[in-house]
Amino acid sequence: MLFSAPRLLVPALTVFLLSGLTVADDATSRAVTALEALQEWYNNSTGLWNTVGWWNGANCLTVIADLAALDPTVMDTADYVFNTTYNVAPVSNPDPGPEVKTTKREFLAPRASSAGNASDWLDSAYDDDGWWVLAWIAAYDVTEETRYLQLAEGIFEALTKAWGTRCGGGGLPWNPTSTYVNSITNELFLSAAAHLANRVPARKSYYVDWAQKEWNWFAAQGFIGENGTINDGLLDNCENNGATVWSYNQGVVLGGLVELNIAAPNSSYLESANKIAKAAIETLVGSDGVLHEFCEPDDCEPDATQFKGIFIRNLLMLQNVSPHDSYKKVITNSANSIWENDRSDQNRLGVVWSGPVVSTVDPSTHCSAMDALVAAIAVK
Ligand SMILES: *[C@@H]1O[C@H](CO)[C@@H](O)[C@H](O)[C@H]1NC(C)=O
Ligand SMILES: *[C@@H]1O[C@H](CO)[C@@H](O)[C@H](O)[C@H]1NC(C)=O
Ligand SMILES: *[C@@H]1O[C@H](CO)[C@@H](O)[C@H](O)[C@H]1NC(C)=O
Ligand SMILES: *[C@@H]1O[C@H](CO)[C@@H](O)[C@H](O)[C@H]1NC(C)=O
Ligand SMILES: *[C@@H]1O[C@H](CO)[C@@H](O)[C@H](O)[C@H]1NC(C)=O
Ligand SMILES: *[C@@H]1O[C@H](CO)[C@@H](O)[C@H](O)[C@H]1NC(C)=O
Repeated sequence: MLFSAPRLLVPALTVFLLSGLTVADDATSRAVTALEALQEWYNNSTGLWNTVGWWNGANCLTVIADLAALDPTVMDTADYVFNTTYNVAPVSNPDPGPEVKTTKREFLAPRASSAGNASDWLDSAYDDDGWWVLAWIAAYDVTEETRYLQLAEGIFEALTKAWGTRCGGGGLPWNPTSTYVNSITNELFLSAAAHLANRVPARKSYYVDWAQKEWNWFAAQGFIGENGTINDGLLDNCENNGATVWSYNQGVVLGGLVELNIAAPNSSYLESANKIAKAAIETLVGSDGVLHEFCEPDDCEPDATQFKGIFIRNLLMLQNVSPHDSYKKVITNSANSIWENDRSDQNRLGVVWSGPVVSTVDPSTHCSAMDALVAAIAVK
């Protein structure tokens, strides 16, 4: 299913001659080459990418959708991945629940036939569920297949049942048995609700209400720290816990506010998004102009290897509606550096975007870096 036709008629084309092969080196060709490398890990029995987990799968699927939206030549690969993952990935759910909490993984296989049943997509972490909502919305955006949107709505609906009572009477906890109220779970809930508000006209006000409820609550808590960046979560007393400023926590909120501003315009939404984006760039972009994570190079596994691409994906959404040179620079500098300095001989992309390729290179580091390559196609 891999795309392999030569791409020669592209703008701003630079052509290199390598041992007789003509290789086009423009933003789109780079991303398509990265997609081919990513698909060497795709497993059509699990619906995921070998060696990485469930939530990483949602993010790899999302970046494929984002690329397909910009380059229709990868649509066949994208369709194949969406359909296969939709049908078979429930067998890979690491911890199905809450409704199916007692079901053991091996008993899930026969239920693969219940494709589209949102319950099959819930595991015991509400943030994981949120990633899949956004992934299926991305697949819907590029295919217009309503089954993907319906699955996203079903997963979101389950999440609404988790709306909590702690810290000012709201927010979602991290998972059903935890009292930890963390940033990512709530940013995902905001973004999922706001995305759905713009895609499901019949339930627009329902989704706008959830998105506003989440954002009003989130902004009133201590998630945003003294530097204008978002820390990992709240203490038991509901104050900012000072825990790591992860890039993805500066990112998901941006896409959420951009979508909310479309559904229910209010100039405060983009003002807040721009403040967070600028603070994040101040904190996470090095003197090399490239986005970094505090865990680099050796302490990012297994989850933080995924984070930076999520920030870039969402920064692009903000750049599209509220452009700033500093946003464009971090997107293009990161993409160029990944391609020049952080790419293996097999076109596999690593975790440290300034290079060199160190630590484990896997579908998580790869599809995260691919987010930057894809954003570089679109950035204006
Ligand atoms: C697909 O994943 C399964 C389960 O992890 C594994 O046993 C199998 O070898 C993988 N197939 C390929 C082609 O990688
Ligand atoms: C699944 O992938 C294997 C190789 O990994 C391929 O040979 C096979 O044709 C694929 N199955 C389907 C149904 O596409
Ligand atoms: C979608 O995937 C299912 C299961 O893998 C398969 O039976 C079906 O033919 C696929 N549909 C399309 C349109 O490829
Ligand atoms: C969806 O899956 C859940 C959990 O396995 C099951 O209880 C429910 O009946 C399924 N719903 C449908 C419509 O198949
Ligand atoms: C704010 O930035 C300073 C200097 O980089 C850092 O030491 C501090 O931990 C940051 N505060 C928070 C809440 O992240
Ligand atoms: C815009 O949002 C701000 C912050 O949430 C809120 O205080 C204000 O009332 C909103 N304005 C309108 C017109 O809804």
